[in-house]
Amino acid sequence: MIFAVLAVPLALSVAAPTANETGDVAKQVISTPWWPPGSEKQAESVGILSYGLVFMTGMMEVNATLEASTQQELYDVRDIAKAGGAGMEDLVDCLINTPKGAAKAIRESFEAALPVATRPPLTVVEMPGEYVFCPTSVTCVAAQPDTGAGRLRRFKRAGASGVAARGFLHMQGKAGTPGSGAKQEVVEALEAIEGLVRDAGGAGLAGLLDCTAFLRRISDAAAVRSTFAAAHAEPALTVVQAGLEDTRRSIVLRCVAAVPGGMSELQEVRRTQTDSGLATTSDRFIFASGQLGIATNGTDAFQSLERLLKAAGASLSDVVNCVFYVKETGKVFDLFAGFSQVFNKNHPPPPSRTEFTAMSECAGCAVVAKCIAARRPSDGQPLLDGGDVRQGLVLV
Ligand SMILES: *[C@@H]1O[C@H](CO)[C@@H](O)[C@H](O)[C@H]1NC(C)=O
Ligand SMILES: *[C@@H]1O[C@H](CO)[C@@H](O)[C@H](O)[C@H]1NC(C)=O
Ligand SMILES: *[C@@H]1O[C@H](CO)[C@@H](O)[C@H](O)[C@H]1NC(C)=O
Repeated sequence: MIFAVLAVPLALSVAAPTANETGDVAKQVISTPWWPPGSEKQAESVGILSYGLVFMTGMMEVNATLEASTQQELYDVRDIAKAGGAGMEDLVDCLINTPKGAAKAIRESFEAALPVATRPPLTVVEMPGEYVFCPTSVTCVAAQPDTGAGRLRRFKRAGASGVAARGFLHMQGKAGTPGSGAKQEVVEALEAIEGLVRDAGGAGLAGLLDCTAFLRRISDAAAVRSTFAAAHAEPALTVVQAGLEDTRRSIVLRCVAAVPGGMSELQEVRRTQTDSGLATTSDRFIFASGQLGIATNGTDAFQSLERLLKAAGASLSDVVNCVFYVKETGKVFDLFAGFSQVFNKNHPPPPSRTEFTAMSECAGCAVVAKCIAARRPSDGQPLLDGGDVRQGLVLV
């Protein structure tokens, strides 16, 4: 949620960690020259390095035009990636929010900034961000370069694309025929996603860990969930409403799957279902489905997340990234207060995070919290067996 234009450049050079040093680090706060070390104690983590992936906080800039703002946000993304030992060519996923009607222009300006061969799967949705005066924000994930099995590989199918790195395939899919309706679009998008996962050496839909479904009409949510179930696709699924680039379309998916290149040759995926929803566990991460809360400060959503993570073998201290969808932009400061209490104060260091404004499936809910936790190498679960297991949970 960083409003990066406020940042003061300091004459400070932060040595980038190398992959070798950090590929086994579970949770480490990243700093940049304009976001100095220690700021997460009062403010936030601009980026979190976890098992070679750099989870970034959403960047907001206010420039003369939307295109210039996006450009400036990409410079911020570059700085965070660099501080995490990665470059722009190592981005594996980006999510951008834009005002109504601007998605296409913003995609074009984002793409113009990156050579074709280095573009990450990009999801652009029309929804307000966390402040009315910041019409667009960019949040990305990068992978530290790896020369071994976890190296970056790119995959493409009609309407869907993905980048595999360090055992995870990040994908965006809008493969369905526009106008065919939510159900049919999901069927086709899941077919494309299954193909991508197989292309990357994974186990098809069985390897699906996490998906966010952006729906043009939230009333399609039940149909989307039942279509996932019918296809035996069981990721941690989060469903929110958003304006889409193609207005004839009903749905756009943003998903992550387990593929070879992680700790073990073929990652096992474990599912933990509780009354808080579903969590999927791979060798290194636990993906929690969006947690719904009634309290505008997110307190009940965080309690629900804590129960789910506990059942899956982790705690709030292990959370490395959250994306929040609040119902009302004006209540976002309540969420900051609740977040700060729960994470900065009670479970530091806080995860990287981004806030958007969106309707969820629960009309009476104020917050959806979609979070990812790092597994502790020492948690004794069998999923870490049989691989390149290194020890040492580093909490800085
Ligand atoms: C990685 O670290 C190990 C031990 O710390 C060292 O022996 C090795 O040379 C390093 N490899 C690279 C590529 O830096
Ligand atoms: C955005 O605005 C800042 C502050 O005025 C300026 O320094 C920067 O160059 C601008 N970026 C772009 C891409 O226009
Ligand atoms: C969050 O809001 C609830 C009421 O909805 C209140 O009881 C609680 O004290 C608040 N917690 C924080 C940390 O702001």
